Amino acid sequence: MRKALVAGNWKMNGRADANGELVAQVLAGLDAQIDTDSVDVMVFPPSIYISQVVSLSGGRLGVGAQNLCEFAEGAFTGELSAGMLVDAGCSAVLIGHSERRSLFGDTDTRVAAKVEAALAADLIPVLCLGESLEQRDSGEALNVVAEQLRLATENLTVEQIARVVFAYEPVWAIGTGRTATPEQAQEVHAHLRGQLQQIDSDIAAKARILYGGSCNPANAAELFAQADIDGGLIGGASLKANDFVAICQAAG
Ligand code: G3P
Repeated sequence: MRKALVAGNWKMNGRADANGELVAQVLAGLDAQIDTDSVDVMVFPPSIYISQVVSLSGGRLGVGAQNLCEFAEGAFTGELSAGMLVDAGCSAVLIGHSERRSLFGDTDTRVAAKVEAALAADLIPVLCLGESLEQRDSGEALNVVAEQLRLATENLTVEQIARVVFAYEPVWAIGTGRTATPEQAQEVHAHLRGQLQQIDSDIAAKARILYGGSCNPANAAELFAQADIDGGLIGGASLKANDFVAICQAAG
């Protein structure tokens, strides 16, 4: 049995005061409404606020970064290494988010290198996979995400792959309000789990595969009820405490 995980990707949102309010409200929701024995809750703030959120959460929320540099140190202006994220209190890091891939040059090669860098620092890589609307409409969705997974993990050991959390985020569902149907999401999740089965049956059984893309309190329960959906990677709704808590409840 896999423990559910709900992760809030704040993207480039937040300010110090607002972060304090949001974290306090989410923690209150954890206390009152969420069974943390059945669901892990994490938040991924902008890097500059990671230390603040780690301090505010007092260890009651997992905290992760939205990106990292694949190099350990050196002349990479503006970048943050895995070691620096660990120093700031991160336990996980998003890698290969479609916005990184489409806007900031995260190729499959860089994604694979970032996964290795995260693992080397004992960070949990949250590997984001997803197809475009054009690829979906042309029937290529399963092939696209399978190839993304293959390229991101082909140089990893079985033990390393076992430490990866996967997130299926159809690009056409991110920020659009057009959520994948539970059937569409389950089909991709099952395909990814089948691919992991080819690597190692234990990994396939234990790997957590999250859904992301316009997940909200109204659709979360039906999505999370699917056999191969183990929680959510939440964007917009993670910035509203009541919505995020409701989604965590649906996963619990
Ligand atoms: O990483 C999660 C994000 O891409 C989903 O965004 O706003 O559609 O929940 P949203």
